[in-house]
Amino acid sequence: MSTEDVTVRVPGRVNLIGEWIDFSGGTVLPMPIRSEITLTRRPNGTQTDVIGSAQFGNEARVGMDTPARHDWPDAVRGALQAARAMGWIDGGQDVSVHSDIPVGQGLSSSAATIVAALKASRPAGETDDVALALAARRVENEFMGVPCGIMDQMAVAAGRRGHVLALDTVDCSFELLPLPDDWEIVVIQSGVQRELADGSYKMRQLECQAAADALGVEHLCALMGPELLKLSGAPARRARHIWTEGQRSLEAVDALKARDRSAFGRLMVASHNSLRDDMEVSLPVMDRMVEDALALGAEGARLTGAGFGGCIAALVAPECAATWWAALQARHPQIKRAD
Ligand code: GLA
Repeated sequence: MSTEDVTVRVPGRVNLIGEWIDFSGGTVLPMPIRSEITLTRRPNGTQTDVIGSAQFGNEARVGMDTPARHDWPDAVRGALQAARAMGWIDGGQDVSVHSDIPVGQGLSSSAATIVAALKASRPAGETDDVALALAARRVENEFMGVPCGIMDQMAVAAGRRGHVLALDTVDCSFELLPLPDDWEIVVIQSGVQRELADGSYKMRQLECQAAADALGVEHLCALMGPELLKLSGAPARRARHIWTEGQRSLEAVDALKARDRSAFGRLMVASHNSLRDDMEVSLPVMDRMVEDALALGAEGARLTGAGFGGCIAALVAPECAATWWAALQARHPQIKRAD
């Protein structure tokens, strides 16, 4: 049982390709970003958790078994409850959080917070990062009520800077593939906020589940393709996105291994078009950012994360990145880099 102050740092993530397929048996390609959360935990000898953050204000003091309250400390509270249930820690805890991961921008600030609180609670030698990521997903699914897949928790728990985590979401096996030196990933905040807990994520996830149920399969990514013709309307579009995205991300793994930047870029663009037309999670402002990023010379660009706002990710040649960014910002003065 750990009894001392423990401080951990966990990054946010950007997903390069493999969107909306981490609950459908797909392979996804996230990588850590520089922004991170620093979290310190210490036992406080009471039956109350005290959770504070300079940025989010308001220290939260709550009993140890308080249910989710749909505010930012939920991520910490849920993780502490899980850590106590697993016997990792005992009693109330003081937790302080400092994070520069933008919130509501599709960069996994919530998964990073949960994973950080679990890592700060894990006794030495107990539980590997995969099991810890699965525990973090349970916090998000069961405590916070967000029916997300496993991508974000795995990306922030097991990812490595400068490497893409090629993650098979069926069994959580993964490869860490170095990002080639002549590839630059630029993560760009649109300025449009969105919350996974606001219901739009759950709505799309239910639509995907309905499509899988109608076809009688657990994993839409495992289909051969022609079965999709049995569906129509929105379920057909959602299933088509998932199936085609599953194929694209496998091709993207090959392109990354072959260091084929333009092939990877083309797959990113096809992914964006599918998120826009079939998954219907883009917004006109995100589409314009992607179009302009490409027109100004990016090899690839796409909405990243769940959509309805958040960020786009672009793939650019490092030698062009500075002028490309200046030109893009001139067209979209509200954007900010988040890589
Ligand atoms: C969110 C979820 C992930 C994943 C993405 C979309 O980030 O937390 O599990 O479904 O959206 O790819």
